Amino acid sequence: ADALKIGIAGLGTVGASLVRILQDRHETMATTCGRAIEITAVAARERSKDRGVKLAGIAWFEDAVSLASEADIDVFVELMGGAGDPAYSCVKAALMRGVHVVTANKALLAAHGIELAEIAEQHGALLNYEAAVAGGIPVIKALRESMTGNTISRVYGIMNGTCNYILTKMEKEGLSFEECLKEAQRLGYAEADPAFDIEGNDTAHKLSILTSLAFGTAIAADDIYLEGITNISIEDIQAASDLGYRIKLLGVAQRTDSGIEQRVHPTMVPHDTVIAQVDGVTNAVAIESDILGELLMVGPGAGGDATASAVLGDIADIAKSRPGAQHVPAFGRPAKALLPYKRARMQ
Ligand code: HSE
Repeated sequence: ADALKIGIAGLGTVGASLVRILQDRHETMATTCGRAIEITAVAARERSKDRGVKLAGIAWFEDAVSLASEADIDVFVELMGGAGDPAYSCVKAALMRGVHVVTANKALLAAHGIELAEIAEQHGALLNYEAAVAGGIPVIKALRESMTGNTISRVYGIMNGTCNYILTKMEKEGLSFEECLKEAQRLGYAEADPAFDIEGNDTAHKLSILTSLAFGTAIAADDIYLEGITNISIEDIQAASDLGYRIKLLGVAQRTDSGIEQRVHPTMVPHDTVIAQVDGVTNAVAIESDILGELLMVGPGAGGDATASAVLGDIADIAKSRPGAQHVPAFGRPAKALLPYKRARMQ
């Protein structure tokens, strides 16, 4: 088969990891997927910056929208981030011409996911976004494919690596909030604007995506009760510990008799639970359902390689898909079949 041509917009921590991995594993990926995967175009802000990867022979676009709408590519990989433009216009432009999209952009999906899914379905394109929630943990695939047929009652977990890293370091090393945040930024875990991490917005974006997948409803990112970790002190962590708890920033979505409840806030979790023992940048997602029962997935939630691993899997799925074959709908069921979101009455 012909090589799968991919264009990558955004060469930050994740983009640079992805380029390096695709180049290092060119042969094995070709064997596994039955066709080669070639990076034919990239777009990023500074051309001269040293990213530790070879970009010779790859078309360079100043403008990501041009790459998405004009480049000779089969897959557009969006790793720029941000709910608005250029990411939104790029993804839309690619889907409208039938180019598949792989994105790690949870903010974009939280704001426009259903509209983009509809466009993808109209144009026979795939919209894959495993990397958008909980880094390398295959939670999108679990909800979207593996658990089809289950009725899900609750999804919850630790979905922001930066916050979990900060809370862990404050507790175990006694470092200040600011020092821990700086370290998370240095390691490439934090968002470009870390306020999204520590104020809980990033967890809310991810939770809204999981809620849609779990309950078959439209995305309702604005309906989330939101509280971040900026007010948590070492004294709070210590007091919780004395009582036998650890403080975790959790995202929780559950089905109730009156609708769906979604919330993000610091939570005291009993010491002897698995979630309480999830440390550092690691994420954990629990899914409770009727046929399968309780599923708990724990793994790397942020950082270049962990996120690139999920992006790579999404690209491989496209490489293996046959032309003309029925695609898995972006949100597990056709966008038109998503139910309206109904919020729970809060007591
Ligand atoms: N800033 C995010 C986090 C990156 O810390 O989890 C992964 O989405």
